Amino acid sequence: MEGESQTQIPHVLIFPLPFQGHINPMLKLAELLLLAGINVTFLNTPHSHRQLTLHSDVLLRFSRFPAFRFRTITDGLPPDHPRTFDFFPDIIASFETVTKPILRDFLISGHFGSDLTCAILDGLFKFLVDADDAEIKIPIFGFRLLSACSVWTYFCVHDLIQDGQLPIRGEEDMDRVLTNVPGMENVLRCRDLPSACRVTDTNDSILQFNIKQTQRSSEFHSVIFNSFEDLEGPILEKIRTLCPNLYAIGPLHALLKAELPNGTECLNNLWDVDRSCLKWLDNQPPGSVIYVSFGSITVMGEEKFMEFWHGLVDSGRNFLWVIRPDLVRGKNGDVEIPAELEEGTRKRGYTVGWAPQEEVLGHEAVGGFLTHSGWNSTLESVVAGKPMICWSYISDQQVNSRFVSNVWKLGLDMKDVCDRGTVAKMVNELMVDRKEEFMRSAAAMANLAKRSARPGGSSYADFHRLVQDITTLSQLKRHH
Ligand code: UDX
Repeated sequence: MEGESQTQIPHVLIFPLPFQGHINPMLKLAELLLLAGINVTFLNTPHSHRQLTLHSDVLLRFSRFPAFRFRTITDGLPPDHPRTFDFFPDIIASFETVTKPILRDFLISGHFGSDLTCAILDGLFKFLVDADDAEIKIPIFGFRLLSACSVWTYFCVHDLIQDGQLPIRGEEDMDRVLTNVPGMENVLRCRDLPSACRVTDTNDSILQFNIKQTQRSSEFHSVIFNSFEDLEGPILEKIRTLCPNLYAIGPLHALLKAELPNGTECLNNLWDVDRSCLKWLDNQPPGSVIYVSFGSITVMGEEKFMEFWHGLVDSGRNFLWVIRPDLVRGKNGDVEIPAELEEGTRKRGYTVGWAPQEEVLGHEAVGGFLTHSGWNSTLESVVAGKPMICWSYISDQQVNSRFVSNVWKLGLDMKDVCDRGTVAKMVNELMVDRKEEFMRSAAAMANLAKRSARPGGSSYADFHRLVQDITTLSQLKRHH
């Protein structure tokens, strides 16, 4: 029969947490799946969808896939809610009470189409679907958008508490080395644990939320990581003991770039991109610029901001700095800017509100990256072969920065300090004194990253295994 021979095209629902660092890689996964012939519906909150369509070319870019759909679902928050990361607990609570039952109805009623094969939810959205909900008939995958090393750390936090290693006993305890995190013995100090561990009461709701969501990862049908074997193989192996169905398909942006003609750039921005910095970079000597960006959610006080500024100017190096309009908390504009800062910035610096980061990191004028160690930024720096100075802010970044400096040897860890002297010293250590050493290790890791994303590489293979497994699920669904 004609109908029998027709193959059903698989259809995947993708739903990220409404933050830049989560939407961006999930959109890259969507594009990769579409290129592999899988239909995708991408679910956003109305707020992030508005931001995204206002500041990026996603509507145009995805219009070449006729079966692709953007859909929205409410986050349950009032229109004037700031929705910044500071309000993470509010946002999660609202998702739990308002969004969860709506999503459930959507999934049960076939709102996204009766052909829906499976859903790929943000790994932190495990709470949106109950494991024993028999009415939700499609497999639910989880995409952990953090490093494997930080997720594994979260897996181990419960044991650290049981063992009396946590809570951390004040500032003087921060450099205590943790000897018994399996697979990371003697790697982490207390200060390198995810920032949620910096609490005196281990019943703290954010810490418990992270522990619980991580432990529940094994309830997902499968877990996806934006990482690769040559970077995090031994840690991924540890996670497989709890989540055996695991795909390591990173760096996603390298995988996607390899699939697109002439390495087209994909910008999935929630802010307006200022491309003028690329022209400025064109006029700087190769390897001379330290690129500075703290990602999409970092906020700092005016005092820290000024220390960074002094440090960058005092370093005597060229710098390109992303100063998001909301980077500095309570900026009053009354602070007098010292003349030497104005002068130093005019001579050697350039600032933008939001940069085309992947292109910036790939520019030959950039010799290093002062970063907050967000996982996307870390992977983008790895692929570009640029050494890092890590000033971690929250969450997984504390773990990432330790791995960058002490495990992968790709740079320096500046966590918890940012006085001008340290900033200037570390910029010079990275860009001058130990430049050769760091450039060599960064180039070697960049090669491994790119190799993993090409045919024959581990991430390439895992991505195609994912496509095959989704296709098989779709065929099974059709036969039932
Ligand atoms: C957050 C968390 O902080 C991070 O630790 C977690 O792993 C993912 O979610 P964020 O803080 O925004 O993300 O950092 P990061 O993960 O580095 O993502 C930022 C993204 O914005 C990157 O893809 C980067 O290329 C992009 N970006 C940043 C720009 O395109 N332009 C900029 O000027 C700055």
